[in-house]
Amino acid sequence: MSQLFSPLTLRDLTLRNRTVVSPMCQYSAKGGLANDWHLVHLGRFALGGFGLVIVEATGVTPEGRISYGDLGLWDDAQIAPLRHIVDFLHDEGTAAGIQLGHAGRKASTPIAWRSGFDETEQEKIDAGYEHWIPVAPSAIPHTDRHPSDFQTPTELDLEGIVRITKAFVDATGRADEAGFDVVEIHGAHGYLISQFLSPLANKRTDRYGGSRDNRMRFALEVAEAVRAVWPAEKPLFMRISATDGSPGGWSVEDSVVLAGELKQLGVDVIDCSSGGFDGYGLKPANLYQVPLAKAVREAGVATMAVGLISDPADAEAIVANGDADLVALARTALEDPNWPLHAHHALDGGGDAYKLWPKQARNRIRDRDKVLGLRGA
Ligand SMILES: Cc1cc2nc3c(=O)[nH]c(=O)nc-3n(C[C@H](O)[C@H](O)[C@H](O)COP(=O)(O)O)c2cc1C
Repeated sequence: MSQLFSPLTLRDLTLRNRTVVSPMCQYSAKGGLANDWHLVHLGRFALGGFGLVIVEATGVTPEGRISYGDLGLWDDAQIAPLRHIVDFLHDEGTAAGIQLGHAGRKASTPIAWRSGFDETEQEKIDAGYEHWIPVAPSAIPHTDRHPSDFQTPTELDLEGIVRITKAFVDATGRADEAGFDVVEIHGAHGYLISQFLSPLANKRTDRYGGSRDNRMRFALEVAEAVRAVWPAEKPLFMRISATDGSPGGWSVEDSVVLAGELKQLGVDVIDCSSGGFDGYGLKPANLYQVPLAKAVREAGVATMAVGLISDPADAEAIVANGDADLVALARTALEDPNWPLHAHHALDGGGDAYKLWPKQARNRIRDRDKVLGLRGA
C-alpha cells in the first residue's frame, strides 16, 4: 500500500489516510454562521475520501474576519451549524478540522469575487454586509495600492492583545463542543499572528516587537492558551508562512526555531505555507512549498505540505521521502473533490482501493469498472 493512503495517528486521532483539504474561505456566511453551502462544499470532500477536511479561516472575533462573509466562532449560536457539518464528515469516515484565525490588518476586505465593495444596497442587506476598521500590531496598512480594500489599522494595545488571545481560547472551546477533531491556528499569510511574526508588519517597541523572541511572543501565547483548553487527546495544528519571502524578513530558519517552540507547547503539526505580504513571496510553481515542510520537519516536528500539489505520484513521494507527514490540497480539491479516490486507484491499483468509495457508490463503480476492464476491478 502507498504511504499516502496509510493511516496516521496523532494523539488519539487516527486519520484514514494522509490527504487533507486545506482551509478555503468561501465568503458565503452571514453573521459568521455556517449554512448549506458549507455543508455541501465540505461534505463532498468527505465523499471523495479525504482523511481530514479543514474548515476555512474562522474568525475568533467579528473584527477578525477577512470579510463579512467569513465563518465565525465568537458566539455559541455558531456551534450548532458547524456540528451538523462535523457529524456528516464523521459519518463518512473523515476527520474534521477547523482553522481559527484573526485577520489583523487584512480584515474587513472585499468578498474575493467582487470588484471591491461594489454591493448594491439590496445586496448588502441580503448578504449581511458589514465593514469595520481592523486592528494590527502596528498602524501600517497591508498595502498603499488599494486603500479602500486595505485600511490603516488601529494599533493593538496590551489589553487588545490579551482580549484576542482569550477569543482564540473561547473559540477553541466552541470548536470542541462542535465535535472537531483538529484545531488549526492560522499563523500564516500575513494575517494577525503572521503580522506579529514578520518585521514587515511589526514595528512595535514593546515586548511584542523588535527581537525575534518578542515577535514570536503572540504566536506562542496563543498556542499555549489554545493547547490548555483543547482536549489533550486531540491534535493541534498551526499554519505558518514558513517564509514571508522578503530579504531580512521572516525566514525558514526563523520558522525552524518557532516550530521547535510550538512543539514544546504541544502543537502536533506545522502546516507549512508561505507569503501573505504585499510585494513579497515565493514564485508559485509545482510543489514549490514542499521544501519548507521538509526543512521544518527536520526540526523534529510533524509537518503538512501544501501548494500546487496535484499529481498522486508527487503526493506519495512527499510522504514516502519524509518531506511531510500530511499532504494538503486546495484548488486541486475544488477541481476534483474525488481526488483521493482517483489517487488511491492510481497508486494502489484495484481491490482494496474500492473500499474508500462511499458505500452507496462502491459496488456500482466496481461493477462498471469490471465491465470496462478498468483498474483491476
Ligand atoms: C478559495 C480559496 C480560499 C482559501 N482560503 C484559505 C483560508 O481560509 N485559510 C488558509 O490558510 N488558506 C486559504 N487558502 C489557501 C489554501 O489553503 C492553500 O494553501 C493554497 O491555495 C495552496 O494550495 P493549492 O495550490 O492546492 O490551491 C485559500 C485558497 C483558495 C483557493
